[in-house]
Amino acid sequence: MSKTHFYRDTWVEVNVDHIASNVKAIIEHLPENVEMMAVVKANAYGHGAVDVAKTALQAGAKILAVAILDEALELRANNIRCPILVLGWTRPKDVQVAIDHDITLTYFQQSWIEEAATHITSGRLSLHLKVDTGMNRVGTKSFEEALQIYEYTSNKSNFNTVGIFTHFATADEDDLTYFNLQYESFTSLLHRFEKRGIIFKQIHTSNSAASIRFPEQTFSQVRVGIAMYGLAPAKEMKQRIPFPLKEAFSLHSTITHVKKIKAGEAVSYGADYIAENDEWIGTVPVGYADGWIRRLGGKSEVLVQGKRVPIVGRVCMDQFMVKLTDEVNIGEKVTLIGEQGNEKITIDEVAERLETINYEVPLMISNRVPRLYTHNS
Ligand SMILES: Cc1ncc(COP(=O)(O)O)c(C=O)c1O
Repeated sequence: MSKTHFYRDTWVEVNVDHIASNVKAIIEHLPENVEMMAVVKANAYGHGAVDVAKTALQAGAKILAVAILDEALELRANNIRCPILVLGWTRPKDVQVAIDHDITLTYFQQSWIEEAATHITSGRLSLHLKVDTGMNRVGTKSFEEALQIYEYTSNKSNFNTVGIFTHFATADEDDLTYFNLQYESFTSLLHRFEKRGIIFKQIHTSNSAASIRFPEQTFSQVRVGIAMYGLAPAKEMKQRIPFPLKEAFSLHSTITHVKKIKAGEAVSYGADYIAENDEWIGTVPVGYADGWIRRLGGKSEVLVQGKRVPIVGRVCMDQFMVKLTDEVNIGEKVTLIGEQGNEKITIDEVAERLETINYEVPLMISNRVPRLYTHNS
């Protein structure tokens, strides 16, 4: 475990060996010349951007992708020197910052490049062109539009378009009709560029689901996020992953108070949990301020001494209570996500209880909870 100083017994463990093993397995699964871009946006999906980025690069990823310029700058401030691509929209007035830190930006609007051009004082802005083939989120909508803004950049010495990409909306679903439409639309756009002698050095379309399912339908790079963290991109995908993915994120705390309450006594705000019998109640110093949201009260379990115990009563801002099977000592370990003995609470289980997707769960755990980086023992 890396030595981070903090004064609370609640922490996230991120097993970097698991991340490295996932990255290696994904690279192995891809054709030899395809490079992996590790998607470390949103603090590496809540895992910690800097440590995950370093781990992914050591394991063979060649490029990092983030959503916003600030995330790229955090990586640079931590001495990460590899190519970094910002996938989202950046304010045109900030392009000089990107140039100064050797960060590649994404563009897809004529007005954006025109304005960006007025903010470049020195150097050359490295760019990827984003084309929309069906997400309808960001990207150019037609070949003509893409060509027009590409040509605008190619006529200016301050711009250097090195890549082109699109994003799939349904690569994780059983029905592949829409995926195929997007794939065909992108390949036909590439051919039209090629016919004009325009060849992009870096071409990428595939997220985790597409990289895993269709490794042969990739281009020069892939953008892999969720699978690197050991999670399946969707339930439908679980059976389709031909190599083991190892979940990297676990969440732990310790019991800070234990007492026996009598049948009929209530627990927590609203007094709406009422003990049916005399019960051992333990207090866990994790609350909705840590991202363990109120909806998990009365709905979920945690592990104590290798057994599942239910959360009882409402989750408070900084604490919640559990119904123990027996008295335990202060300091007894509590696992909210992860393994204890033969029991395991997965991120997918928590996501299911919250009726959401696994992506959201590690992200939900707030920065108040320190991240510790662990290795296989
Ligand atoms: C543009 C883009 N590429 C790649 C990814 C990575 O997707 P995944 O985490 O499913 O691999 C994302 C994630 O949302 C994205 O927005």
